[in-house]
Parts: sequence; structure tokens; C-alpha cells
Amino acid sequence: MKIFVYSMREFDELKYFKAYAKERGIELDYTVDIPTLQNVHLAKGASAVSIITNPTDRTMLKAWKSYGIGTVSTRTVGYDHIDLCAAKDLGISVCNATYSPECVAEYTVMLMLNCLRKTKLAFKKNAVNDFGLYGMTGGVLEGKTVGIIGMGKIGKRVAELLSVFHPSEILCYDSVIMETNFEKYVAIDTLLSQSDIVTFHLPSIGKPLMSTREFSVVKRGAILINTARGDLIDTPAMLKALDDGTLSAAGLDVIEEEKQICYFDQSDNENFSHPYLAELKKRDNVIYTSHYAFYTDQSVKEMTEHSLESCMLEQDGKPNPWKIV
Ligand code: COI
Repeated sequence: MKIFVYSMREFDELKYFKAYAKERGIELDYTVDIPTLQNVHLAKGASAVSIITNPTDRTMLKAWKSYGIGTVSTRTVGYDHIDLCAAKDLGISVCNATYSPECVAEYTVMLMLNCLRKTKLAFKKNAVNDFGLYGMTGGVLEGKTVGIIGMGKIGKRVAELLSVFHPSEILCYDSVIMETNFEKYVAIDTLLSQSDIVTFHLPSIGKPLMSTREFSVVKRGAILINTARGDLIDTPAMLKALDDGTLSAAGLDVIEEEKQICYFDQSDNENFSHPYLAELKKRDNVIYTSHYAFYTDQSVKEMTEHSLESCMLEQDGKPNPWKIV
């Protein structure tokens, strides 16, 4: 079977792709470029393509279909960048790729601790030899109420990791309730009004879950953590909440409008602009990283291998745990 890989990162993914393709007898070809209508023809002769986060619309899917592509595998858990209706209409299978929830769960706890201990301000003060304590009073997780929105694998693991810090309570919100020792399920407004820290672990729902109304019920001084999807939070409403003290801090690995950010080096691009980034970056109480929570050596290996394996399962018509449509 031949699989064509788009957006290949030669510095970290290629070695895993090559090794797994050899092991499984897959013919592999790739480009480092993101998929566009201009390079869609590169996949000719392959029966599946592997992509990452780039928007994949009906036109793109149609073009691939015309070159014989039957499977699109995204090397990500999320698949909100792919037009699933179009794929279904065209008879193209879409698959995702999973990796251990540990990387995102640990990163989430790291952001919580960084917000509580104001490390962004500490680095800034250190950079100008200001070693004073002013502004640096921190907090601890012990005794805090933490609200987890979305109790899939990552949300559950965050709850487990947090338990060693002895929070006073872990409140959870999800449409499916699977209570364990660590958590208590509540309505979303109860979670927002009682939690000192709120963290998100659910896929995009196509509209913000946190807008002006939700911020109006948030406990005063809460910390917001988002390692899930940027569009879960209405950024102007969040900025207002940071300004009026509703939020004391935010730890964000994802923000709205990531298309021109992830994963490009824009350091030499004088025309680079983003609707919210400058506002977020200038605040000492906002930590922003550019969608790195997933990024460990182990997850890269799993993403590449699961993507290839999934394409093979589709080709062979076998049950595929990564199949979306
Ligand atoms: C996912 O796997 O869905 C992620 O969020 C990570 C991806 C952007 C590389």
C-alpha cells in the first residue's frame, strides 16, 4: 500500500514514519508542505493521505478523490479541521490518531502551577534583574476547588494527577457521568461559580462554551486553563474577565484563530498579525504557548504509527479504532 504524507516534520516525525513503514511494508512518500490545491496531485498513486491540522474542505477532498485517495488520516486526536460531511458524501474514510493522554494532562497541571506561582512575571522580573518579591505572592493547589469540563481520557487523568495535591474538591461537568473516587459531577454553572481553577478537556463544539454569560457566573479570581480547543472560549469576553478581576490568570495552550500560528516560525514575518495574540502576550497573568501540550517524543511516535496503521486497516477493510467516518 502507498501512503502520501503531508506536512511531514523531517526533524521529528520522519524517523518514526520510515521505521514503521519499513516494518509494515508500506510505500511512503511525503512533502513538508501543508496540503493545498496546488500540491494535491502529489498524492497520485497513493490510496491514503496522512495530514495534520490544516483545514481540509470539500474541494480538497474532491481533488484527492479524483486521484484515487480513499482514506484521509489526521495525525491528531481532533478532527474539527476536516469536512466530515463532504468526506461521507465522497465515500472517503476519515481517521484520527490517538496518543497517551498523559502529555496533555501533565501539561495542564503544569499550566495550573505556573499560573498559581506567577512564573511569567518571575521570568520577566529576572530578565531585568528585579529580584524583589513585589507582585509574586503565589497560591497552592492544596485546598483549591478545581473544575474539569470534559471527562474523557485527558480530563480523567487530570483529576487523578490533581488528587496528589489535595484539592478541596474536584468538580466535573460532562454529558456522560462516570464518577470515580476523585470527582463529583455538577451542572456547568455550579462548576463555574465554585471552582478556583477551571480547565477544559473537550473537543470543539463549533461555538464558544465560555462567553459573557458564563464569565458572569465564574467565581471571582478564578484561573482558566485551556489545553483543548481555542474556540471553546470567546477571547474578547475572556480579556474583559481578566481586566475586571473575574479571572486572576489564564494558562492557554490554545487560542482562537490558530491557523497562522500553528506551527509556523513567524519570527521574520513583518506582516504577521493575529486578532488577540498581542493583547494576551502583554498581560503578566496570561501564559500562552502555541499548542504544545501534545508534543512529546512518545506522542509523535504514536501519532505517526497510528496514522499509518489506521490507513492499512481501512485498506484491508478491518475494524479500525481510529475511524471517524
Ligand atoms: C490533537 O491531537 O487534536 C491536538 O490538539 C494536537 C495537534 C494540534 C497536533
